[in-house]
Amino acid sequence: MKPSFVQNRCFARNGWDFHVRKFCRDHDIAYQGFSLLTANVQELRHPNFWAVVDRVEKTPAQVVFRFALQVGMIPLTGTSNPEHMQQDLEALDFELTEDEVLAIEVTRREKRTMLFPEKASRIPATSYPRNNANTA
Ligand SMILES: NC(=O)c1ccc[n+]([C@@H]2O[C@H](COP(=O)([O-])OP(=O)(O)OC[C@H]3O[C@@H](n4cnc5c(N)ncnc54)[C@H](OP(=O)(O)O)[C@@H]3O)[C@@H](O)[C@H]2O)c1
Repeated sequence: MKPSFVQNRCFARNGWDFHVRKFCRDHDIAYQGFSLLTANVQELRHPNFWAVVDRVEKTPAQVVFRFALQVGMIPLTGTSNPEHMQQDLEALDFELTEDEVLAIEVTRREKRTMLFPEKASRIPATSYPRNNANTA
């Protein structure tokens, strides 16, 4: 029997699960992405990502969830904080350009240590051990 949903930890280094998302799209299966923040702490330091955050003047989490919506995911948030939940829901209320979506979709890990130290505190800390088989 065909599943209605696939729920995956979504790694930016795998093109935000590009191939699984494509398979789901081709087979009319809903793709739910989880750990969108905590699985991607390194990638969310990339200057391409911060250029988008700065243009739209939203939080990094809002940009990630908006990106996820625009590539056709159902984004799951792991927050237990009502203020963060409200912010996350506001991802429904703005748009990224096609170029911005693409720039985020191809973002890989930023190997340089910390390009934007003043912004580091705005990136959620990793809460999951990076022990998945996909971990580099
Ligand atoms: N199916 C599965 O196998 C599976 C496995 C793992 C997780 N999940 C589900 O997937 C969902 C998301 O996973 P995750 O916990 O790894 O999530 P996540 O959304 O990547 O990260 C959540 C963490 O980021 C922090 N955070 C800081 N600012 C935030 C903001 N604006 N919005 C959201 N979080 C913010 C949260 O802290 P605060 O609480 O302080 O905001 C929390 O520590 C959860 O509902 C979880 O139950 C499913």
